[in-house]
Amino acid sequence: MATAAVLPEPAIGLTPHVPSPADKPAFDAAIVDADSYAHEERYHAIFKYLREEAPVYWCEPEGYRPFWTVARHADIRRVELDNETFLNDPRLTLATIADEERIMALTGGNKLTRNLVSMDNPDHKHFRAMTQGYFSPKYMKQLEADIRVLAKESVEHMASLGSQCDFAAEVAIWFPLRVIMLTLGAPREDEQFLMKITQEVFGAQDFDHMRPEEMGGLFATIAEFNAWCDRITADRKANPREDVSTIIANATLTDGSPMGNMEAMSYYLIIAAAGHDTTSSSSSAGLLELIRNPGEMRKLRNDPALLPNAIEEMIRWASPVKHFFRTAAKDAEVGGVPIKAGDNLVMAYPSANRDTAVFDDPFAFRIDRANVRQHLAFGYGPHLCLGQHLAKLEMRILFEELLARFDHFELAGDPSWTRASFVSGMKHLPIRYQVK
Ligand code: HEM
Repeated sequence: MATAAVLPEPAIGLTPHVPSPADKPAFDAAIVDADSYAHEERYHAIFKYLREEAPVYWCEPEGYRPFWTVARHADIRRVELDNETFLNDPRLTLATIADEERIMALTGGNKLTRNLVSMDNPDHKHFRAMTQGYFSPKYMKQLEADIRVLAKESVEHMASLGSQCDFAAEVAIWFPLRVIMLTLGAPREDEQFLMKITQEVFGAQDFDHMRPEEMGGLFATIAEFNAWCDRITADRKANPREDVSTIIANATLTDGSPMGNMEAMSYYLIIAAAGHDTTSSSSSAGLLELIRNPGEMRKLRNDPALLPNAIEEMIRWASPVKHFFRTAAKDAEVGGVPIKAGDNLVMAYPSANRDTAVFDDPFAFRIDRANVRQHLAFGYGPHLCLGQHLAKLEMRILFEELLARFDHFELAGDPSWTRASFVSGMKHLPIRYQVK
């Protein structure tokens, strides 16, 4: 067990709403507080301080099991790469002790689903290999025409709304969901249902998205999704198609036995959930930064070849996945700090993406940032985001269509962000625009 070092008082207050690090209980509470993730200036004030003063920091928030936060780019990469020492199982994301106990009581284990992000080898390698070919850049290229149809539809919807909309809520959340539904081969009439499921899974701490406890909370969400998946699995076994559901439904486990319903459900869920809010948040954040930085928008309009780099910068900027955990399988060391076997570590991806050791002037949004591809928003190493090529492809197509259809964008109100410490991003982005 680590000992808690007392952190120095910063020379000036971090920001008005961040407690002093010298007040450890309050500072540690701020690290896990979902509100810190809905207010980017608070999040970045906390993690800038940690990168500078305590890059590997022992955090003991009340109501949570303690853990290390890893704030620097180099240290996160080192942890991610060594997946023999740092395991994904058993602790995955921030949850209160009370929630962990509820899951234990319900499942007898530590999770509601078992999917790629909670697996280690040999299962991880095996499960990842099942769909790696499907999500490769080469295969994704084949989806380009269908994705463009969906992007055009979203942009036409925006045009039909007149000259003003909430881009985050009315456009950006629907398009990636439809793209994911395309990969799963899910029918359009299931759209509302899948929207609800993915929002309840990832927005579990946001008051607007969480399912009330009297309605069964997250457990009821998973049960409903389970029934949907069983239908898809049965159908794809009987009628194989060119979609990722067919690959999953007909796959075999490491021991050669057929894929079980629980494993199939978990796979569909990770694709649906991981592929949705992440991409929509990055698109909204990207448009917001283009509006806030008219010089960058001009650069992009003058040189559309910059778009792929601009998309990477949007993703670096947004870093919608705020953390994942790893657990040390043996005694180790990270950033010069000894880590004991069994200790848990949080990898703070948005913090890595503001690290001055890698990114020059990291708080500036620059679409032509030369080394932007070093960002860790997709993670790193063996668990590197499976859907990264799909995410970049669909964002590129969406922005091509947006820039082609509209002349001018400006803010029409205050943007806001989701309260969630795992995956969080833009919730409302009111904008005005001129149809070309
Ligand atoms: C894993 C981010 C889009 C599917 C991850 C991880 C991150 C991430 C940080 C964990 C990586 C690690 O542990 O090293 C993002 C971001 C996205 C995005 C920022 C959009 C901008 C997508 C899409 C899909 C997807 C569109 C759809 C297929 C997955 C899956 C994993 C994953 C299946 C688990 C991979 C594994 O553990 O082997 N993603 N993701 N993601 N992502 Fe994404």
